[in-house]
Amino acid sequence: MEKKTPAESLTILSQVMMPYHASHYGNVHGGIIMKLVDEVAYVAASRHARCNVVTASIDSLDFKHPVRIGDVVTLRAKLVFVGKTSMEVEVHVETERIKTGETLPVATAYLTMVALNEEGHPTPVPQLILETEEERKKYQEAKLRRERKLEKIKKVYP
Ligand SMILES: CC(C)(COP(=O)(O)OP(=O)(O)OC[C@H]1O[C@@H](n2cnc3c(N)ncnc32)[C@H](O)[C@@H]1OP(=O)(O)O)[C@@H](O)C(=O)NCCC(=O)NCCS
Repeated sequence: MEKKTPAESLTILSQVMMPYHASHYGNVHGGIIMKLVDEVAYVAASRHARCNVVTASIDSLDFKHPVRIGDVVTLRAKLVFVGKTSMEVEVHVETERIKTGETLPVATAYLTMVALNEEGHPTPVPQLILETEEERKKYQEAKLRRERKLEKIKKVYP
């Protein structure tokens, strides 16, 4: 299977936040952003694997700044690690106050997506070609996160 670079599956999604995205007190509901995070990670992983993928895990999601109605939210998803059948996708979310052009960080998340074959079983994906020092660093960090996560899963689902 031919290896691929993270750039080949890089996915960017921008969306304007409408009143129907709001919580009862006016800003955008966190669940809306979580859904977009999952969707953009899904697209990046699907572009890498070129088959069905499922979300196995969302590592963390820390909200830094609120998103307001009328803002344009932009999500960038990039593969940082590939195992045999799993892929870790880093997603950065930022929001743009459209009248001033100010951009603020909203959230960063790490998702593990697993490639599935036609029978719905995990199936191998192309390995990653790491081209930059930053990509190599992120790969090592992701490897540690994966080890910690798999240890935790063993305890939760023995
Ligand atoms: C994700 C899933 C396919 C894994 O199936 P499984 O039988 O545990 O398969 P395996 O043990 O062979 O694991 C497959 C890969 O997933 C990884 N993995 C499994 N569960 C994981 C988890 N919770 N977090 C991170 N990675 C996980 C394994 O480490 C392995 O990676 P590798 O092949 O790169 O080494 C299965 O648990 C599943 O279908 N979960 C539900 C997914 C879903 O429906 N998501 C949407 C929820 S609405």
